[in-house]
Amino acid sequence: AQEQDLAGVKVVVSAGPTREYLDPVRFVSNPSSGKMGFAVAQAAAGRGADVTLVSGPVHLATPAGVRRVDIESALDLRDAVLQAAQDADLVVMTAAVADYRAADVKTEKEAKGGETKTIELVKNPDILAELGADKGKRVLVGFAMETHAGVERAADKARRKNADFILLNYPTQEGTAFGGDDNQVTLVRADGTHEAWPRLSKREVAERLLDRAGQLLPAARLD
Ligand code: C5P
Repeated sequence: AQEQDLAGVKVVVSAGPTREYLDPVRFVSNPSSGKMGFAVAQAAAGRGADVTLVSGPVHLATPAGVRRVDIESALDLRDAVLQAAQDADLVVMTAAVADYRAADVKTEKEAKGGETKTIELVKNPDILAELGADKGKRVLVGFAMETHAGVERAADKARRKNADFILLNYPTQEGTAFGGDDNQVTLVRADGTHEAWPRLSKREVAERLLDRAGQLLPAARLD
């Protein structure tokens, strides 16, 4: 049997994309598959943690023993994560949160109009940064996808959001990140120190993430 090294530890994982509706039948979203977050939830449950998985719309089965909350928009993701995180020991934000939402969500389907159309967007709240601003004893882990200056940008994000570490990945790498079963990530801390991990299955990335996060949990949590 697997070692229950996270028994009694409360873990919140966010996964998948958000949908930002423009009207009742159209939305802005992204191709996040949710696989990375579901792998973290599954791995944590396998190690005995009490896991809440807050998920955007994805085509994945809920891992055994995991409490799942389904959401669509970034604002709903925020509500669900902040509520579940209240008594959490570890929060892992793998969700690909839309940066913006429509300023004005139409209540009726918009008819076709002229040749061009402008949609006004407003910024979504940064959930990880909100958690970081009132961090308490929680361990906070984020993910970041960068196309350039990855380590610097990820370290900057870890600092700004007060995350313990960020797992950096690159959308352009074949077989990894969006939709793939593998991931190749670099663990980046706020002080800029980092370690590149080899290409691994998302499950193996999840296990390593939990190893590292587990080392940061207050000693009282792990006896
Ligand atoms: O989008 P960005 O690169 O800043 O995302 C880095 C981390 O912050 C990810 O873990 C993501 O889930 C989280 N995030 C968030 N709320 C947002 C945007 C991103 O929690 N509005």
